[in-house]
Amino acid sequence: MARVLNAAPGPESESPMSYDTIEQTATDTSSAAPAELPRLTVLGTGYLGATHAICMAVLGYDVLGVDTDRSKIEALASGRVPFFEPGLPEMLAKALDSGRLRFTTDLAEAGEHGDVHFICVGTPQRADSAGADLRFVEGVTRDLAPYLRRRCLVVGKSTVPVGTAARLTQILQDNAPAGTDVELAWNPEFLREGFAVEDTLRPDRLVFGTESAWATAQLEAAFAPLLEAGVPVVHADLPTAELVKVAANSFLATKISYINAMAEVCEATGADVQMLATALSFDSRIGGRFLKPGLGFGGGCLPKDIRAFIHRAEELGVGKSVAFLRQVDAINRRRRERTVDLIREEAGGSLEGVRVCCLGAAFKPNSDDIRDAPALDVARMLKQEGAIVSVYDPEAMDNARRAYPELTYADSAMEAARDARVVALLTEWEQFRAIDPATLADVVAQPHVVDGRHALDAAAWRGAGWSYRALGRTA
Ligand code: UDX
Repeated sequence: MARVLNAAPGPESESPMSYDTIEQTATDTSSAAPAELPRLTVLGTGYLGATHAICMAVLGYDVLGVDTDRSKIEALASGRVPFFEPGLPEMLAKALDSGRLRFTTDLAEAGEHGDVHFICVGTPQRADSAGADLRFVEGVTRDLAPYLRRRCLVVGKSTVPVGTAARLTQILQDNAPAGTDVELAWNPEFLREGFAVEDTLRPDRLVFGTESAWATAQLEAAFAPLLEAGVPVVHADLPTAELVKVAANSFLATKISYINAMAEVCEATGADVQMLATALSFDSRIGGRFLKPGLGFGGGCLPKDIRAFIHRAEELGVGKSVAFLRQVDAINRRRRERTVDLIREEAGGSLEGVRVCCLGAAFKPNSDDIRDAPALDVARMLKQEGAIVSVYDPEAMDNARRAYPELTYADSAMEAARDARVVALLTEWEQFRAIDPATLADVVAQPHVVDGRHALDAAAWRGAGWSYRALGRTA
């Protein structure tokens, strides 16, 4: 049975300890932290790895960040975070100043440095199936192994299909000079983009999947400041630890698609999904988080994780158990098509030659990530139907331009809206919520707005003369 340490308040209650306090406890030499902290390596310096490496160094660990991409390593070593994440550049400066954070492309150096090695490389969707592409996870494990000459712990953090840890253990022990002295553990990561620092320094929980008391002790030493701060820890076996992440993401995706399915029912009945969601949210068994209707989920995790989970469950002969996730995915995809329908309706039935302003490109606000971004998918479909699409996003413009060079980009929301016949709000950035509808009405050709994220005040926009539409609400 899983052991739970530090069982703490529920996820919606406020934890009493701020992460400033956690930092202070960790770097205070008089604290109860183990006399000798393990030296850490972090393999893969993308979103997850860079955040983990930086935060662990700030917490007092001696950290070596490793990546095959020299440009990423050079950027980080010179103090530049190569993606948009609020708060992370300041933390990187702090970590580099402490002298406890270095970066390299050299796995031999990593093998020499690390007592605990965290694997943080990506597991994207495979090109030829819905399964997870394990090339990077297996590759880094195989490449690191020959440099593991002493007792150490390798810890998987990447999101993987259940059963991967067993394979990686075999790869490590077959190829490492230290043989079975190299152990593997699983410690899934739940950080959200936009809240990466907070989620790393003050996670809701830690999951330690281990196969020996020694591995557990290493993980406890590697997270000592968080344990001291009272973060709950669930001790589990390897397959359970691997499953937790996909189970959590599947649950979140299901919750979003559930309310979006209700939006479809609302449209057929004249009901209002936003009122419905508000009424449901007061039931503490349901709760309001991840119950926000709209254009649905995107990003580098939720969509590919549920598909990889379906794929893996089918391989294991339990496909029926997660067959509902196909519906979750289908409902989510339909949101994008339905948003295009509303825009077309507002344009008078055809999008041919119609100027449409798309506010937002990132898959969610406070991020420059456009992976599987619903906003850009909608922009692409509009363009395919002949619309003249002008896109603006506060942070994701460079990424969007690279991925969708066929779209037109504007330098501001106002410029994107100039002469538009329909304005579509597709990512709910605060600056879009704050737009004054009367001011915007002056620059558009026609005051028609489709609020893909239920982010605008419908009454205020209608009051300023706009035709306001949103998924799951009456026209
Ligand atoms: C997610 C998980 O939340 C995180 O725990 C995991 O580690 C990685 O995957 P992230 O991809 O950063 O994190 O995004 P998240 O905040 O979960 O949002 C995912 C998508 O769902 C976004 O496109 C967002 O717009 C959408 N969403 C979220 C909704 O449509 N409605 C909601 O109520 C909540």
